[in-house]
Amino acid sequence: MKNKLLKLTLIMIALLAILALVACGGNSNTGTETGNSGSTTTDAPAGEVNGKVGIVLPTKDEPRWVQDEARFAEALQAAGYDVEILFSQGDSAKEKANVEDLITKGVQVIIITPHDGTAAAAAAEAAQAAGVKVISYDRLIRDTDAVDYYVTFDSIAVGAQQAQYLVDNASGTGNPLYLYAGAASDNNAFIFFEGAWGVLQPKIADGTFVIKNSSEAIALQDKAELTRDEMAQIIGQVTTNWDFNTAKNLAEANLTATTAEDKGDVFILAPNDGTARAIADAFAADTDVSSYLVTGQDAEKASVQYIIDGRQSMTVFKDVRTLVDDAINAAVALLQDQAPNATGAYNNGAVDVPAIQSPVVTVDGSNVKEVLIDSGYYDAADFTGLP
Ligand code: BGC
Repeated sequence: MKNKLLKLTLIMIALLAILALVACGGNSNTGTETGNSGSTTTDAPAGEVNGKVGIVLPTKDEPRWVQDEARFAEALQAAGYDVEILFSQGDSAKEKANVEDLITKGVQVIIITPHDGTAAAAAAEAAQAAGVKVISYDRLIRDTDAVDYYVTFDSIAVGAQQAQYLVDNASGTGNPLYLYAGAASDNNAFIFFEGAWGVLQPKIADGTFVIKNSSEAIALQDKAELTRDEMAQIIGQVTTNWDFNTAKNLAEANLTATTAEDKGDVFILAPNDGTARAIADAFAADTDVSSYLVTGQDAEKASVQYIIDGRQSMTVFKDVRTLVDDAINAAVALLQDQAPNATGAYNNGAVDVPAIQSPVVTVDGSNVKEVLIDSGYYDAADFTGLP
């Protein structure tokens, strides 16, 4: 009898030791980055939080998401949490495999930026089935109830600020307008476009701007508010797919299809910095273009340099540190079985997902130094010719 009790106690001690090890993620990983798996592990001295969190980001090929990885690693290291960061490299199957991998490793919360918002529903549902909470990060996972929380910037404001910049810098009538959008698989592409359309449409209706590169947008130019299907029609015609080369090829094709009268001083709605630089390069190379204004977002370093050099007009700065903090706070709340702080909700096609949303800032040559350098976000040494 005594022996049995001793055996049982020993087994329980061994089990507890294993659980503790799992919770700490082992002590041998020290923020190592492995090129092949595309994963970063930030190891923790036994965390202030009980549990494990996994992060899945869409691609390492865009500076935006490498920036998020770095800011996560920074914040998590400071807080002493145990978190693994995986990249999906623009592949929904890899994304699902990443989520399954994290589930197997015993995470309780997954923070995920879907490559494709609808395709990611299957990954979120796998997490839900395993009792793992899902936080949609920056991009919303669509058409499923398996999303617990959404951390985002004010994406309507992103599009609205891009459009407002074009409006504020246009005078007279008949200004040529070229529209470009993000990937149709990304819910944000719709929100950015909706925000931009709300500001541009009245200025198209009153003749300030004339759309030059989308028959679908021209067909809808009298409608102040577009349905998702209508936006999909336009986006289908002017999508960059969030890809530099697609954006460049599309801009070149648009320039070839238009005449000298459609050019001159042009206004370009470009959805983000990567595509803005590609589109800007194409317009700069066209001798019928006398000047161009082009929007962007993300404040990627290369675009900050473009703005300093006068090759990109503006960007919308989204302070990733805020998004990362919001995501970590939400994860901590979920690990403690509490509802994260929410300022609103986003409908994802199936349910209203509680959300927290942070503001964005327009940056151009006049405030680039103040907003991005003097604030400590970037080092002055990373740029040349700062004002
Ligand atoms: C993000 C942008 C990013 C784009 C392309 C969007 O969902 O909000 O910041 O530039 O995806 O990756």
